[in-house]
Amino acid sequence: MCGIVGAIAEKNIVPVLLDGLFSLEYRGYDSAGLVITSNGLQRLRTAGRVAELEKKVAEQKTNGFAGIAHTRWATHGEPSERNAHPHLSSRESKIAVVHNGIIENHEIMRKRLQNEGFQFDSDTDTEVIAHLIAFNLRKSDSLLKAVSQSISELQGAYAIAVIEESHPERIVVARNGAPLLLGLGEDGNYAASDASALLKTTRNMVYLEDGDIAELYKDHYAVYECKNGILGPEINRPVHQSDLTSDAIDLGPYDHFMQKEIFEQPGAVANTLEMVLNAQAISPGLFGSAAEKIFSQTKGLLILACGTSYHAGLVARYWLETIAGLPCTVEIASEYRYRNPIADAHTLVVGISQSGETADTLAAMSYAKTLGHLHNLAICNVAESALIRQTDLRFLTRAGPEIGVASTKAFTTQLASLLLLTTVLAKMRNKLPPEKEASVIAALRHLPAALQSTLQIEPEVQEWSQRFSEKRHALFLGRGVHYPIAMEGALKLKEISYIHAEAYASGELKHGPLALVDKEMPVVAIAPNDQLLSKLKSNLQEVHARGGELYVFADADTQIEESDQIHVIRLAEHAGILSPILHTIPLQLLAYHVALVKGTDVDKPRNLAKAVTVE
Ligand code: G6P
Repeated sequence: MCGIVGAIAEKNIVPVLLDGLFSLEYRGYDSAGLVITSNGLQRLRTAGRVAELEKKVAEQKTNGFAGIAHTRWATHGEPSERNAHPHLSSRESKIAVVHNGIIENHEIMRKRLQNEGFQFDSDTDTEVIAHLIAFNLRKSDSLLKAVSQSISELQGAYAIAVIEESHPERIVVARNGAPLLLGLGEDGNYAASDASALLKTTRNMVYLEDGDIAELYKDHYAVYECKNGILGPEINRPVHQSDLTSDAIDLGPYDHFMQKEIFEQPGAVANTLEMVLNAQAISPGLFGSAAEKIFSQTKGLLILACGTSYHAGLVARYWLETIAGLPCTVEIASEYRYRNPIADAHTLVVGISQSGETADTLAAMSYAKTLGHLHNLAICNVAESALIRQTDLRFLTRAGPEIGVASTKAFTTQLASLLLLTTVLAKMRNKLPPEKEASVIAALRHLPAALQSTLQIEPEVQEWSQRFSEKRHALFLGRGVHYPIAMEGALKLKEISYIHAEAYASGELKHGPLALVDKEMPVVAIAPNDQLLSKLKSNLQEVHARGGELYVFADADTQIEESDQIHVIRLAEHAGILSPILHTIPLQLLAYHVALVKGTDVDKPRNLAKAVTVE
């Protein structure tokens, strides 16, 4: 969480810092700040959004040639101006620090530095970094060395940018466990938490590795390895041309990123499946050069993920068991990492993550390795993410940047990828005769078009939104592979409309939640025309008989009678194997339109952040 930008150039860099912060707001948005070197260190901070900071910058006409900036998601210390970054140390050399991550030994370091006479002005762990660097600067002849020494004393995961009043001609940045890259421009050099923050300025990016420390000047830069506080030799990190376009991070004609991302799903899925859509057969090579060998030894799967990505894993379990005949366990990463599970060397561990940065997912993946799982695979939307770097096999969902905090297109592209994985594994296990493989490929080929036609039901869904917006609770029901889709629908509604929503496997209804059902509790049911439909219908009758109001998303050919208390929206087609993917769309639209009626901040729901890089 938290976004960092740094800039040093021959021009006023304040617009670059602000643009960068706006792009990084998905990482946190409870306060923001910047420091510019212009007649000393000029600091501006605000509680609230980057837009507030922008106003302050305009009022004060802040400008300068070098600076660092930050948008925050509070971990230590409430969201307030006092706790907003940058944090300063002013006792001797005046320095400013912005930080993303958590310093785990901050309490002990705080005491140590207080004993040395440093005075703390905030409740953050970050301020420890500022004072520690200032303290180490006493004994060093350069900021670079002082930062190297300091990071060897810090425990935790972080990315930092540091600037010093007496040397405004350089910025020092360091990375250990949180993302950070350099942007090389024609008129200056930049740093940021991700590429989207710099796209308007440059597409030449250098991705730093954990343990890297770098010095940026307006006309050159240098990256060094840093181990145990010892500054190593300069190293050469490759320069990548980012293929992101600034369109990908612009709203275009849409009102919200979530809306844009919902409607981008046909294209996002088509991009993700590009390599497959023209193929006659699906090959393991899609998951990496070692995939064929690893998959041939795979006896089961363990899927680890959080949030929406976890729901994608739950859907995949049904596919993997039914189509590939492989046992599959799906676990919330934050739970798995603190259990003592029994590992099996040939159970392939699959990490699913939009960002590839989620701290619990990363830790769970590493933990699985230490327990004895031999191989792992990442399904991820960010090519340079920590998850992609740490796995043996990988499949990139090509959804493009997802900015809305509530995940939409990442989920459907994850599902498409997981169906591909299932197909490959099924084929290698002789569970998929050629005609069945051809039918899966045909279904995948049709998926973008099917998504497009499913989006057409938006006006019908919108009609329901007013009624939902007046409720305080909602129940979501699904069976089989659609149960995780009900979970995802409930998650979407609570994330952005703040309506309490719970999902139940409909067979569980009479074991508890039925007690809650009355006319104040709308019940959303996912009713595909599959082998569980008759069972689901009985469950719906149980709701109806108790005065509950049902909102049913059915397939075109699902036989369900409408009445005063049973409202039905039918999807354009019966999607067979792809049904969970298509049934996701109306639930996303429902959450979006209810949030619009309620007037909540759709893209930046309260208290949440897009990439949860802390435990
Ligand atoms: C946060 C986001 C969710 C996301 C979850 C897992 O909670 O708000 O949208 O599903 O993290 O993120 P990941 O990047 O690992 O998929």
